[in-house]
Amino acid sequence: MSTDPLSKQAFGVCYYPEQWPESRWPTDAKMMREGGIDFVRIGEFAWSTLEPEPGQYQFDWLERAIDVLAAEGLKVILGTPTPTPPKWLVDRLPGMLPVSKEGQVRGFGARRHYCFSSLEYRNECARIVRELAIRFGKNDAIVAWQTDNEYGCHKTVLSYSASALQGFRGWLKSKYGSVDKLNEAWKNVFWSMTYRSFDEVELPVGAVTETNPIHRLEFHRYSSDQVAAFNAVQTEIIREHSPGRAVAHNFMGKFFDFDHYELSKDLDIASWDTYPLGFLSREIGDPELLERYFGIGDPDFGAFHHDLYRTCGQLRNGSPNGRWWVMEQQPYGPINWGNYNPNPHKGAGRLWIWEAFAAGAEVISFFRWRQPHFGQEQMHEGLLLPDGRPNFGYDLCKQVSAELEELQAAPSNNRADVALVFDYESQWMLGYQPHGADVSHFDTVFRYYRALRRTGVNVDVVPATAEAIQERKLVLVPMLMTIDADFASALKYCGAHVLAGPWTGAKTREFAIPPNLAPGELQSLIDIKVRRVETRPKGFPIPIQDGKSFEGWREFLETGHGVDVDQETEDGWPAIVRCGPVTYVAGRLSDVGLDGLIRSRLTEVGVTWHNLPADVRVRENGNTRFVFNYGQQRAEISDLLGENGSQMIEPAGVRYLQI
Ligand code: GAL
Repeated sequence: MSTDPLSKQAFGVCYYPEQWPESRWPTDAKMMREGGIDFVRIGEFAWSTLEPEPGQYQFDWLERAIDVLAAEGLKVILGTPTPTPPKWLVDRLPGMLPVSKEGQVRGFGARRHYCFSSLEYRNECARIVRELAIRFGKNDAIVAWQTDNEYGCHKTVLSYSASALQGFRGWLKSKYGSVDKLNEAWKNVFWSMTYRSFDEVELPVGAVTETNPIHRLEFHRYSSDQVAAFNAVQTEIIREHSPGRAVAHNFMGKFFDFDHYELSKDLDIASWDTYPLGFLSREIGDPELLERYFGIGDPDFGAFHHDLYRTCGQLRNGSPNGRWWVMEQQPYGPINWGNYNPNPHKGAGRLWIWEAFAAGAEVISFFRWRQPHFGQEQMHEGLLLPDGRPNFGYDLCKQVSAELEELQAAPSNNRADVALVFDYESQWMLGYQPHGADVSHFDTVFRYYRALRRTGVNVDVVPATAEAIQERKLVLVPMLMTIDADFASALKYCGAHVLAGPWTGAKTREFAIPPNLAPGELQSLIDIKVRRVETRPKGFPIPIQDGKSFEGWREFLETGHGVDVDQETEDGWPAIVRCGPVTYVAGRLSDVGLDGLIRSRLTEVGVTWHNLPADVRVRENGNTRFVFNYGQQRAEISDLLGENGSQMIEPAGVRYLQI
């Protein structure tokens, strides 16, 4: 066994043998193999079946299930069952339950009923994981482990329990050493919030109006650390007892409550769970886009996460050959949790798969094998019907695995010329102090991402570290709230063009306006100061030039030595300014504005870009160019295929060629 990357891309599936009669398992395993599946994830919700009574382990059934899968040549990813602690455990340790903002204990009856701060629960997790790792760690069929399942799902990162309060006070104590230092850093003189001891610090909840933003940010940092610490308990045990096996976790879409970069430093494989039609109906929320991409999915939302999690997969030991998977892929059918759950458009399932493989995914694993006829997710399709016969997803898997074989596709994670910084702390900070409705770090970063995708260039979504921005041609840092001196210097010397703003370098780590005003340390690259920020509702844009405008957010800049004003607002304020290889944008540019700016900078730094039809997207992976049509209409793509005649791509179509 080894933790090295796979040399060939492959399919997987999520399977729950404990939910089906044992007599059926051989049929399932055989059908999986025949359907083109190589990997099977099991076990992550099976605690009450594995330990029905305290300390009485029943692992034989799991061993038999693994044997049945192995007999068909399938490789297993074993999930640790910690997202679903059994009832007897909750009754024994009621203090392990999470507590909501309103002070409500979130009890047993679904899943994820635990608080990350509960050390008692962590010990129980260590116990069950150790037992499993000892029993199965060296089983030849097991190639990887998945820790828990979707950390933080159902809003469980921030918990206001007694354990959290105790843990938070201890965390603050070890961070600040003395309460006077904390008072000074938090500027608790404001509104008479000075503490006499750490024991006086409460959780930032339940106050009359908003609590100090640094108090909230610190609690968020603390809570994020607890997720990483919880994970580390498991990874250490697994690595001790299961040498050579990779450790993975499955992250989610548009979920930022803990720092995924930090946690990923402890993973061999970063994976995520993608449900394109669920995301379109629930996360995108724009009626125009819902209509335009109905049944196909947003062209950039899944892609952004592929580009983010590919980076996450590279963070352990800074490996450039990082590994990332799609651990759960919406099957080619309706799911159960969208606002609406439509039938995917013809071809959409194939398009989702190729978008992920083109982004370098090693494995795409469908959720789930067979649709259950029971329980909370009985309306969620699987590859098989509830009666056990193949559904459309199964046929698709078979078809695309034949295609994959033909293409001999291998995961390739070449460094992109363009890096777009996405930062978890900035997301939290803007959540606590958005300054206006619908302002968020993600939304701003995502606008830039969409504009980049409209040019067909490959992009890496990266953390704000010196390493991540090396060997790039263009680095974008919109709304990166804090820039410390080291990162400012990394930006200055990285050799790329830096596109910053709006609201970059706007706060210190203590959540205060920098003494020299925003953009703080960025002033060592470009001599500007933000005098004022205004936010505006939709329908009140600030016109610039040529039909461009700022939408929702704009800044009033003071410019200093060596700064050229490229463009001004109609009311006479600098809108886009630059100083050599650094550009600062003083507001949220409209799409037209962003397109123009990004294309001009790409041209300047020598990155080839395409003028794509509106719903067409492109990715290059190694020497293969993939072209996708997310639109409901056929589109012409001859330029992309290097053809002279007219070449069309069907709605939800995928084309590829060697370049
Ligand atoms: C994921 C989760 C799975 C299943 C799936 C349904 O968020 O990890 O266990 O609930 O959603 O779409």
